[in-house]
Amino acid sequence: MGKALDGIRILDFTHVQSGPTCTQLLAWLGADVIKVERPGTGDVTRGQLRDIPNADSLYFTMLNHNKRSITLDAKNAQGKDVLEALMRTCDVMVENFGPGVLDRMGFTWERIQELNPRMIYASVKGFGPGPYEDCKVYENVAQCTGGAASTTGFRNGPPVVTGAQIGDSGTGLHLALGIVAAIYQRVATGRGQRVLAAMQDGVLNLCRVKLRDQQRLAHGPLTEYSQYGEGVAFGDATPRAGNDSGGGQPGWILKCKGWESDPNAYIYFITQAPVWAAICKVIGQEDWITHPDYAKPDARLPRLKEIFARIEQWTMTKTKFEAMDILNEYDIPCGPILSMKEIAEEKSLRETGTIVEVDHPKRGKYLSVGLPVKLSDSPADVVRSPLLGEHTEEILRDVLRFDAKKIEEIKASGALGGAKPMAAE
Ligand code: COA
Repeated sequence: MGKALDGIRILDFTHVQSGPTCTQLLAWLGADVIKVERPGTGDVTRGQLRDIPNADSLYFTMLNHNKRSITLDAKNAQGKDVLEALMRTCDVMVENFGPGVLDRMGFTWERIQELNPRMIYASVKGFGPGPYEDCKVYENVAQCTGGAASTTGFRNGPPVVTGAQIGDSGTGLHLALGIVAAIYQRVATGRGQRVLAAMQDGVLNLCRVKLRDQQRLAHGPLTEYSQYGEGVAFGDATPRAGNDSGGGQPGWILKCKGWESDPNAYIYFITQAPVWAAICKVIGQEDWITHPDYAKPDARLPRLKEIFARIEQWTMTKTKFEAMDILNEYDIPCGPILSMKEIAEEKSLRETGTIVEVDHPKRGKYLSVGLPVKLSDSPADVVRSPLLGEHTEEILRDVLRFDAKKIEEIKASGALGGAKPMAAE
């Protein structure tokens, strides 16, 4: 069966997480992704957070499936020529170097357009144009500058970053969307274009509801925030809301049986208005169905703390899975707090290919996350990440159509790595 992006070739000049997330998604959708890496070390994540000596780290392997790897010294003249040849033949170039790195290599947008007017040149940067555009950025910097940290955590505590990699992987995802749209537009225009995803912008996009709340503050308190019910005044910026639900249906995380020893024995419980009567029945508080202080959503808002404390008396008598089963019988929205261990062992996620087991020649079997979007006509098979430079010769020969003599010349120049032979040798 074909794939959605069959025939699209990508020059993947990315490293760490944000860029590789993007190109991995495109590879799963069928693009031929050629990852250019620095000879010797490659993508820095190959060696970061290593769990097995001398094997590519899970950090690397889980972000670089379905790609080919070529090693190339982009600062060597012959290496630059090879890069230019790749730019001429690829449809898309993706990079997430620090600001100005590609320009310093000599690859300005103007130069890239000269080399290939159909090229889609896509970048992740920490910030868009403005006061911070020259700054290097990692995940948590983006979470802090995009509005996530100031709105995450508890009111009385410091800002908190989230485990979800919304700055890196989130921005990679945004970039992939921009690239696919640019490929589509090129069909009509014949031209490539520049695509930029700034991490601050990507995080802010995911924090859209918090900018919504910022504006609502001008018109009164945010009544669905539990601080309203607690009588705590609002300041002039969207506050941290603990585990309050971000939407119009109040929710909170409640203890379940075993919480004393299991850090994940909790359930997220939403008091959705249409199932209020069912909630009251399940917890044995039927008088609240008609009581004027509890019957209507507006009446409940100032009492959320008390209400959730009462519901928690019930959830603490059940395991999170028992509670989930019972609540779902009544269509009450809820979700057990699943640990990574439980998710890794979840059978249904294996069956859908969301969690896949991959075999790697150096590290053996490991788990990864497959394509989280399922396309009925474009199945995503997860292929192990490439070893460093595994496809160097193949790419020079089959993609760039260089003959053996030329490949030897390039090798001898040191552009592919290894020691450059001395003149006397
Ligand atoms: N051959 C030769 N040199 C190479 C090379 C190759 N194949 N690949 C990379 N390099 C060089 C570059 O030319 C550059 O050198 P220069 O500074 O002398 O011009 C250097 O390696 C890479 O620089 P940089 O990207 O700034 O790396 P860094 O490790 O200092 O910074 C980041 C890492 C992530 C902070 C930075 O890349 C960044 O801000 N990226 C944009 C935002 C982003 O994606 N952040 C999230 C990452 S998950």
